[in-house]
Amino acid sequence: MTSLGSAPAPELLDSGERLSRDALLDLQLQRLRWSLRHACVNVAHYRRAFDAAEVTPDDCETLADLARFPLTTKLDLRDNYPFGMFAVPRSEVRRVHASSGTTGRPTVVGYTQDDLDTWADLMARSIRAAGGRPGDMVHVAYGYGLFTGGLGAHYGAERLGCTVVPVSGGMTPRQVQLIRDFEPAIIMVTPSYMLALIDEFERQGVDPRTCSLRIGIFGAEPWTEAMRAEIEQRLDMHAVDIYGLSEVMGPGVSQECVETKDGLHIWEDHFYPEVIDPISGDVLPDGAIGELVFTSLTKQALPMVRYRTGDLTRLLPGTARPAFRRMEKVTGRSDDMIILRGVNVFPTQLEELIVRTPGLSPHFQLILGREGRLDTLTVRVEARPDCPDERRDPAAQALAREVKGRVGVSVAVEVVDPDTLERSVGKLQRVIDRRS
Ligand code: DLL
Repeated sequence: MTSLGSAPAPELLDSGERLSRDALLDLQLQRLRWSLRHACVNVAHYRRAFDAAEVTPDDCETLADLARFPLTTKLDLRDNYPFGMFAVPRSEVRRVHASSGTTGRPTVVGYTQDDLDTWADLMARSIRAAGGRPGDMVHVAYGYGLFTGGLGAHYGAERLGCTVVPVSGGMTPRQVQLIRDFEPAIIMVTPSYMLALIDEFERQGVDPRTCSLRIGIFGAEPWTEAMRAEIEQRLDMHAVDIYGLSEVMGPGVSQECVETKDGLHIWEDHFYPEVIDPISGDVLPDGAIGELVFTSLTKQALPMVRYRTGDLTRLLPGTARPAFRRMEKVTGRSDDMIILRGVNVFPTQLEELIVRTPGLSPHFQLILGREGRLDTLTVRVEARPDCPDERRDPAAQALAREVKGRVGVSVAVEVVDPDTLERSVGKLQRVIDRRS
């Protein structure tokens, strides 16, 4: 694979990345106390919630004291739609973003100029951790607009000193043409749309391995190690994971370092992570899997106190950036989990098995149905273009066997022609629920 040289020299890192763990812990406590006070003084919701929990910002004397404060959920943002959670006058908000959500009102988030600067700095840090350097050309195919992906990537790449190609999502043939003509080194896009771009290269008769891309910074949806191997092999590039959510900032809350590819370093100088038991709400020790919760440490417009992300992961010690803890690749959201006849199934578990089954492509959908009183799951997956017709049935049977053996549920597998399932240009909707 394309070599990237070694980890960035210490002088390339920013001052936050050079902190020792102890200095970071001191900074976190100081910032946490500011953030709790800022939220309590300026946001009626937090004032009420702190009162109800009988805590005040002064009760936070150590980082562990944060566990006494109330959790915040997406519902709190919806209830205060559109600007009720903002902690600064609307005229000081320089930008808003929103996530559509599947039902009802969107979630609106806001940024002051300082917030936008912090975001650009952290995205620049993330792109550098992914192997990007000033002067690199970055093709941004995350959607621009209310979604945070496009503009977040854009300002971060500019901040790092890169040349940005702001393509946004869609018009797949043109994306590939632009990559062939401009020869960017880096692409930032959802992993599912990257697959669609790889297919388009092949359709245009170009071997994707010969293209200029050396690094892909993929996020906004869960993806697996098997998918990493698939993309790295088909594109001869380094595929690294970027995580974030609008409520906490957008992309760049945590980032995988290319030299280790071992989970995502959380930029803990700005976001304090906890992992809780999703049922009891208790804080779990590092290393235990649960729901990720973030408290913002520096955000002005929209401070977030113990925001429940819904994402399942665990916290691990830092490696490539020793002061910052890592989060394991997100395996799924608690609300993505399919409960099939009593067994919990995550779409990522199936992705892992599908990508490893010879003859099957990584393009698949999961269809939930009902027969009598029993729920059923059908995996509809495209054959790889080079898979002969007579190999499809054996591939389907092999996958069904693997799913039964490893996940513990019986599924139907339907192998369909290449290029017949809908492609997404942004976040992919994997599960189609036909039960009602
Ligand atoms: O998806 C921000 C983003 C844009 C992240 C571009 C990375 C790249 P939202 O639309 O608010 O923000 O969705 C946030 O997406 O809670 C996760 O469930 C999921 N998600 C984001 N990144 C990852 C990832 C953006 N790397 C929600 N792996 C989050 C798994 C991810 N899930």
